[in-house]
Amino acid sequence: MAAAAAAKRLSVAHQQTRFALCLAAALCLAAAAMRLSVVHSPVLSGKITRNTLQDMEIAPPRSDLPFSSPAAIPQRPSMATADDIRLSISHQTRFALRLAAAISSPSKAPATNRAFSPLSLHVALSLLAAGAGGTTRDQLLAVLGGGPAAAESLHALAEQVAHVVMADGSAAGGPRIEFADAVFFDKSLRLNPAFEEIAVGKYKAETHSVDFREKAAEVSDQVNSWVEKVTSGLIKQILPPGSVNQRTRLVLGNALYFKGAWTKKFDASKTRDGEFHLLDGSSVQAPFMSSKDDQYMASYDNLKVLRLPYQQGGDKKQFSMYILLPKAQDDLWSLAEKLRSEPEFLDKHIPAWKVPVGQIKIPKFNISYGFEASKLLKSMGLELPFSGGANLSEFFDSHMRQRLFVSSIFHKSVVEVNEEGTEAAAATAIVVGLTSVGHRMTMDFIADHPFLFVIREDTTGVVLFIGHVVNPLLAP
Ligand SMILES: *[C@@H]1O[C@H](CO)[C@@H](O)[C@H](O)[C@H]1NC(C)=O
Ligand SMILES: *[C@@H]1O[C@H](CO)[C@@H](O)[C@H](O)[C@H]1NC(C)=O
Repeated sequence: MAAAAAAKRLSVAHQQTRFALCLAAALCLAAAAMRLSVVHSPVLSGKITRNTLQDMEIAPPRSDLPFSSPAAIPQRPSMATADDIRLSISHQTRFALRLAAAISSPSKAPATNRAFSPLSLHVALSLLAAGAGGTTRDQLLAVLGGGPAAAESLHALAEQVAHVVMADGSAAGGPRIEFADAVFFDKSLRLNPAFEEIAVGKYKAETHSVDFREKAAEVSDQVNSWVEKVTSGLIKQILPPGSVNQRTRLVLGNALYFKGAWTKKFDASKTRDGEFHLLDGSSVQAPFMSSKDDQYMASYDNLKVLRLPYQQGGDKKQFSMYILLPKAQDDLWSLAEKLRSEPEFLDKHIPAWKVPVGQIKIPKFNISYGFEASKLLKSMGLELPFSGGANLSEFFDSHMRQRLFVSSIFHKSVVEVNEEGTEAAAATAIVVGLTSVGHRMTMDFIADHPFLFVIREDTTGVVLFIGHVVNPLLAP
């Protein structure tokens, strides 16, 4: 039984990773994503065992949950079987590949640095699925995790993420992590108890009764302050002015913050300006961190991969950043394309051990990137929630049901990489309103041209951030 439960947790993490890949593809970063989605990754099948995952499971604290009715306390774990989830994964993978083929092209990603959090988007959309019904729900489940039977595994995954993967580890020396969900709903309505049970129990969501009809601007400020607080001030305005109005009835929010120190920090006194080659053939002078310490690194025909682990806490979690550096200076998009078209490619190229280093040079960088995600999600086949035919019948305990739709989905990510480590934050806000309608030799790693990066938790494979750097000097 325990082994089955552990296998299930493992599978849901992969399921989520695949969604990450799907979105990454949409942002021309399919490559990095695909590799991380492979079920039998060396990390997961090798040194990380089922026991590791079991060890990671901690009893969620019940006393601090922000609801009053004991009847709403959910039972863990949910009953989705590993087979259900595997089936969902295969559906989702198919979708991810279709999407990547449709979207991944450099013309969609002009010369700006970008980062986003598949984890934040996935969790917010899973919460949306908990309030959807009929074909709208089916479509969300198809995009997020497979088929009509996937809801349980989706919520089980969210529960695992909220209570375990993204539990703060800073007291024991690991990364500082904040992870929060919230539901802001109009005071004229009552949340459906079934939805509230999932939102509060599994997603640890706060629920706030607010007045959209008379005080939309104040509610917007309230949501923005909540995100600002969770993200330690890194994301100040997830909802732009006017995005919430008197016809809004609900805002679903997810926010996360990550601050990890490198296992081995870079010596700031050795940081020097150097040449970073841009995609157009020109170059800029940018500050590079450098090191001669052994590193997890691997080199192949057209690609080098560097893994920079973050300091671990007392638990079993291990967060790492991966930098995927094409050997040719202008090869960022073809690397992305190659990884997309050969999903197994990167899986075979992940650095498994430390190698002696001649020199490594990594530019410091800051990225801040935000977008309204509904167009992107529509291109992934998720159309119903945004349409007049949306069925969001499960949010509220009343009969105004058919008139709700998703008016917008805002996502923003901020990533800062320096000698100490990484500080990053992401937030997603879904606005729902009324319709009006390996060899042992020294190796260098000189990241002096555009590269991809991924921040993930290695024992589960949950991807927190994906991004690319085309010019480290661009202002965030
Ligand atoms: C909306 O979803 C609910 C729950 O799945 C279902 O009972 C209802 O019939 C659906 N409404 C429409 C118009 O499809
Ligand atoms: C990143 O932003 C911080 C302030 O948040 C600044 O001190 C630092 O110089 C910036 N780094 C780069 C590479 O722009």
